[in-house]
Amino acid sequence: MDLQQVFINNEHWIKEKLASDPAYFEHLAKGQSPEFLYIGCSDSRVTAEDLMGIKPGEAFIHRNIANLVNNVDLNVMSVLNYAVKHLKVNHIVVCGHYACGGVKAAMTPIDMGILNPWLRNIRDVYRLHKDELNGITDEEKRYDRLVELNVQEQCVNLIKTAAVQQAYYERGLQVHGWVFDIHTGRLIDLQIDFLKILKWVEEIYKIS
Ligand code: CO
Repeated sequence: MDLQQVFINNEHWIKEKLASDPAYFEHLAKGQSPEFLYIGCSDSRVTAEDLMGIKPGEAFIHRNIANLVNNVDLNVMSVLNYAVKHLKVNHIVVCGHYACGGVKAAMTPIDMGILNPWLRNIRDVYRLHKDELNGITDEEKRYDRLVELNVQEQCVNLIKTAAVQQAYYERGLQVHGWVFDIHTGRLIDLQIDFLKILKWVEEIYKIS
């Protein structure tokens, strides 16, 4: 792609926005008050705004390889804290996607260098759900299920944080687990039972 095209596209976008709302950028510059925090995969095919049909200002976004919520990752933890404590989002979404290269790479027995410690989090998800996953003979279906279980475990990781626990008791913040089906474009709600997870997480991880 000719990079110059990006700036031409940008000019078109500005014209389009101003044609439908002459004060569009004035409003945008005033500040943000997003309703939710979206944590998704960095995969170039999975663009948060496009697949949800939302506009700038509606979601605070964090993306990394395989949509992980790692306890010691200062990046995701800073995003989480800012979104919950300052922007006061009411919903947090972890959105994985089928055919996730990160999930597949995690299960490949090769040295991936700096990616090893990152992807190990996914191997840990596999270990936690080994019996269920090993019971799925179709390899593609097993990966699809690992994608879903990875989303679920990242929701658990969110619920382990003080930020999420406090915001739940203060204003009823909710955590959701979704999967984007890259083959059909459909967004699937995994129906994560937030309250049930919160209850058992709090037995050990209550810090609020
Ligand atoms: Co991915």
